[in-house]
Amino acid sequence: MAVNLKLEPDHFVSQVLDWFDQYGRHDLPWQENPTPYRVWVSEIMLQQTQVSTVIPYFQRFMDRFPAVGDLAAADTDQVLHLWTGLGYYARARNLHKAAKIVSTNYRGQFPNSVDELEALPGIGRSTAGAIASLAMNIQAPILDGNVKRVLTRYYAISGWPEKTTVKNQLWEIAEQLTPARRVAHYTQAMMDLGATVCLRSKPLCQHCPLAADCQGFKQQLTAEIPGKKPRKTLPVKSTRMHIIRNSQGDVLLQKRPPQGIWGSLYSLPEGEMASKLPADALPAGIELGQGKIRPLAPLRHTFSHYHLDIEPMAHETIARNHALADSDRWLWYPLDHSIEVGLAAPVKKLLGKLTGSNQ
Ligand code: ADE
Repeated sequence: MAVNLKLEPDHFVSQVLDWFDQYGRHDLPWQENPTPYRVWVSEIMLQQTQVSTVIPYFQRFMDRFPAVGDLAAADTDQVLHLWTGLGYYARARNLHKAAKIVSTNYRGQFPNSVDELEALPGIGRSTAGAIASLAMNIQAPILDGNVKRVLTRYYAISGWPEKTTVKNQLWEIAEQLTPARRVAHYTQAMMDLGATVCLRSKPLCQHCPLAADCQGFKQQLTAEIPGKKPRKTLPVKSTRMHIIRNSQGDVLLQKRPPQGIWGSLYSLPEGEMASKLPADALPAGIELGQGKIRPLAPLRHTFSHYHLDIEPMAHETIARNHALADSDRWLWYPLDHSIEVGLAAPVKKLLGKLTGSNQ
């Protein structure tokens, strides 16, 4: 996609750098002695992890592996041990692999081009740009989540930033804005601006050095930009939930297994049959008569991966023999006062409707 925007890089960069001098972060541990090795390790740790979490891990890692050769010579177990708690362990495995490559193929010196950095395991284009600019003063752009937020808002670029056309446009803009002078400060400034001012929700535009020219701010679009990932059409599953009551009007609930949807929450018994519940869908000893079963208004519950269409079935017969043998799995839930158990969301909604209408 051709960039058809007035970029004015000099103006943009000077606003960002002036702000950085006054408000940027200058005392992060990896900023002290920013060698390619230290910057690389910090950038990998900072992927999907907050600065405050990373700091102690970074310090322990540097104490144990002060140079890339120390990391290359370590056992994977030692590396993973120092990563424990940071999560996303593929990062640690790739770090170890890349350290071995730098030690053997590059004799312990990190390659000084973005392309060669990007060829190392675990280093994407933005991380390569960060290492090149922060540690080697190479005029290389970055485009992490923070920078995407700043740029999409500043130029009011709608659409999901991970979409190829949008992403290509953002890379082109990032490339044109990235200055030759003070490139390390500029890179750090863009990260800091995104992390501390241009926040995902409720950005602090009144403190932003770019607000005067920010199209997203001027058009009040900061809540809509950056655009969200378009929702996929989700598959639809369906189920019947049975509302069975005792003579006190309590509703029979079943505890879900600890794994899976609604883990350990209470839900209504489910069964496919409209007229008869399968025997194993009811607790031992509970019997239903032959009374009518009335379908109630259906409802849809949406999970991240599918929609669940629920047909609630109200049984008119009162359950006989109320005592529940297996009280860890089954419960008579009183509708007139709440008791402290977790309910599956649609069950809570359904029981709320019953309380409101049909006592
Ligand atoms: N997130 C990614 N890189 C960072 C850096 N250099 N400083 C602060 N936060 C970051």
